[in-house]
Amino acid sequence: MNQKLKRIRQIFVALVIIAAVEGFSSCEKISYPERPVDPNATWHFQTDIQPIFNGICINCHNGVQSPDLRSGKSYQALTRAGFLKLPGETSLFYIQITTQSDHIPRTTAAEKLKILYWINQGAINN
Ligand code: HEC
Repeated sequence: MNQKLKRIRQIFVALVIIAAVEGFSSCEKISYPERPVDPNATWHFQTDIQPIFNGICINCHNGVQSPDLRSGKSYQALTRAGFLKLPGETSLFYIQITTQSDHIPRTTAAEKLKILYWINQGAINN
């Protein structure tokens, strides 16, 4: 009888461990799909463009190297003559990030498109 209880307890413990492992592994890899880069969607400076700068640009463009791309400074730094103009492809800023060898590997195709669409939508501080 005692032996049987021991066996039941062992099975119970094993089930709890399996449930815990399953539970952990099922929550492990939740990936949220990135918003598609749709030219007709509205692209926002604060939530779409600034995060690109925060991730890969402000290591260097943090006040000393022009343009200053830190949050709160970047929009003003970009609105200087010729940097942003229509159509977006002719903007010095867009040309810089798409053709300068220093910058080419740093922005992804999606990031370049977001910047282009944002410029073409008027480059507003939205
Ligand atoms: C490793 C350091 C470094 C990183 C990271 C970097 N830059 Fe630069 N950037 C420079 C340097 C140095 C210059 C000046 C020399 C040149 O034009 O290549 C420059 C120049 C520029 C210019 C031209 C400035 C002018 O006055 O004409 C722009 C625009 C620019 N960077 C944007 C960006 C953006 C946007 C990112 C992020 C996607 C970025 N940079 C990331 C170092 C960097």
